[in-house]
Amino acid sequence: MSSRDDAAHLVEEGKPLDDQRAFRRALGQFATGVAIVTASAGDQLAGVTANSFTSVSLDPPLVLWSLETKAQSLPVFREASHFAVNVLSADQVALSTRFARSSLDKFHGVGWRRGESGAPLIEDVAAHFECRREAEYEGGDHVILIGRVDRFARFDREVLVFAHGRYGLSVDHPAIDVARRTLVETGDPHPLDDFLLPLMFRAYEQLSGAFERHREAEGLTINQSRILACLAAHPGSSIETLSRLSYVGQATAEDAVAALLSNGLAAMRPPGVIDITAEGRARLHGIVTRARAFEAKKLAGIPKADVEALRRALAALGRASRE
Ligand SMILES: Cc1cc2nc3c(=O)[nH]c(=O)nc-3n(C[C@H](O)[C@H](O)[C@H](O)COP(=O)(O)O)c2cc1C
Repeated sequence: MSSRDDAAHLVEEGKPLDDQRAFRRALGQFATGVAIVTASAGDQLAGVTANSFTSVSLDPPLVLWSLETKAQSLPVFREASHFAVNVLSADQVALSTRFARSSLDKFHGVGWRRGESGAPLIEDVAAHFECRREAEYEGGDHVILIGRVDRFARFDREVLVFAHGRYGLSVDHPAIDVARRTLVETGDPHPLDDFLLPLMFRAYEQLSGAFERHREAEGLTINQSRILACLAAHPGSSIETLSRLSYVGQATAEDAVAALLSNGLAAMRPPGVIDITAEGRARLHGIVTRARAFEAKKLAGIPKADVEALRRALAALGRASRE
């Protein structure tokens, strides 16, 4: 890519300490999974949502993650000889938001059991790593905890992804098409050609990418417009509720709400309770109007009856997959 391309795609730049939120958004371009790291010491349990988890070494088997020094659970992690990393599966967003908030009853109503070391192992996750605490290093406003993995378990579940400050799924790269086309060119039939899912996925990717520019024209980032849409449906929500409903991280939700408050699209009623303003509703209406016009333009070349049949088929598929 030429530097002119870079200039055209530049969203923001600067020094980390001048704008911490912007710095965090840039860090959010590095996609990660999401884990809940747990420990127990005495009769106390700790659990923290973390995306700083990463592998360090295979032999010896070492992993690391970092914990904010102001986290309430730091004393438990310091006292405990072990910790467990619970890698969240795709449908555990609510659990992620729950453990991303300081509270005493994080484990209440959550399915878990003790691992061999005593650290809580959460149910329905994608993987567990039971670790012995090997080392701790200072890392600015975080402590870096290194663990030696005693045991692991991997489950057949989709994983939860965190990128651009919001939750997502891991899907195959569309470049997989290259392999598909090669097979087609050699004359070998390939089943992917008949499957609905890759067809829908390709269409979705192309359309949503193209719509992005229209949303930007309304002066909102995708995270802000998601929060705004949630506010329209659930006025009077807390940041935590908005984070859960809109599938964006807690820090991203705070960031988006701050922007919406400062440009008058949202208002804080009593402290902590956020409402959408009339201006916010108007902006949302602008996006919906653009989406309608965009869809109509994209569908213009397709016979109306086909479009109606597609709508019915997709709605039926949506219902069938919920059953
Ligand atoms: C997706 C996501 C990833 C996070 N990653 C980390 C992390 O790696 N380290 C950290 O200290 N906090 C991280 N947090 C924030 C903590 O989960 C949050 O501060 C939590 O409230 C700490 O709990 P405690 O105060 O009860 O210890 C993350 C939050 C989210 C939503």
